[in-house]
Amino acid sequence: MTEEEMYATYKGVYLPKVVHSSESLKYYEEFSFRPDDILIVTYPKSGTTWMQEIVPLIMSQGDPELVDTVPNWDRVPWLEETRACNLNLDQRPSPRVFITHFQYNMMSTGFFKVKPRVIYVMRNPRDVFTSYFHFSGMASYLVTPGTQTEFLHKFLDGKAIFGSWFDHVKGWMSAAEQQHIMYISYEEMILDLEASVTRIAQFLDTPLDSEMKRKIAERCVFKNMKKNKMSNYSLVPSEFMDPNVSEFLRKGKGYCRRLEESSNCSRGGLL
Ligand code: A3P
Repeated sequence: MTEEEMYATYKGVYLPKVVHSSESLKYYEEFSFRPDDILIVTYPKSGTTWMQEIVPLIMSQGDPELVDTVPNWDRVPWLEETRACNLNLDQRPSPRVFITHFQYNMMSTGFFKVKPRVIYVMRNPRDVFTSYFHFSGMASYLVTPGTQTEFLHKFLDGKAIFGSWFDHVKGWMSAAEQQHIMYISYEEMILDLEASVTRIAQFLDTPLDSEMKRKIAERCVFKNMKKNKMSNYSLVPSEFMDPNVSEFLRKGKGYCRRLEESSNCSRGGLL
């Protein structure tokens, strides 16, 4: 099926109709943010799922109960997704944690008024592209990507869901008010996850001792997090996400020029 058949255009970008109904988009537009909400913002395939693990562990002072028992889509709901309307989010205690893939100029009036805490995660576009290519093959609600070259043209032209990576990063990086936004890169997390946990915990005003930071980082490294069925999407029916085509937690690598030679950091590349 084509983009025209599977996607709706919302504020200038494609969104898959199956996961974003007009009711869910209206729900998002009218959503009441609280100043202590934590909003994880990403272009798709930039580390959203990773943050859905790290942030709850920081907020629980390392207690793994929530991440071990609640799937990430309920633990840290996706605000503009259809399911969000049915989760009674207004009754959740503070601090609530959400994700969104929206570009800066797509955010609601309520967001700009309340200014909740934002963690903006960005990732090298080469690896985003590769991850997005494989994901588009395994998720039935996305248009099949075709060849890598075909998908590359769509990616560069912003014809993938949530629009252009370039517009996304540029918009959020030039946000008018940045005091409530923390910027972090996927590559920084690959290079030193414990230091990244420390930085995120500081931003969230949640002091952690060094043992706790070490434990959270250890739990969230790719090979360990991949085993958590509440986070690895293995609970999703295969008609929706087919692990035989590609796993959701696929390779978990980041391209970091500075430490190219290091075993900690290797290039995802066009595989
Ligand atoms: P790859 O496809 O390159 O492996 P998102 O959650 O935004 O959709 O991003 C998915 C990407 O993040 C996938 O990249 C996935 O493997 C990676 N990822 C998820 N958890 C990770 C972790 N703990 N460490 C490193 N990468 C992780």
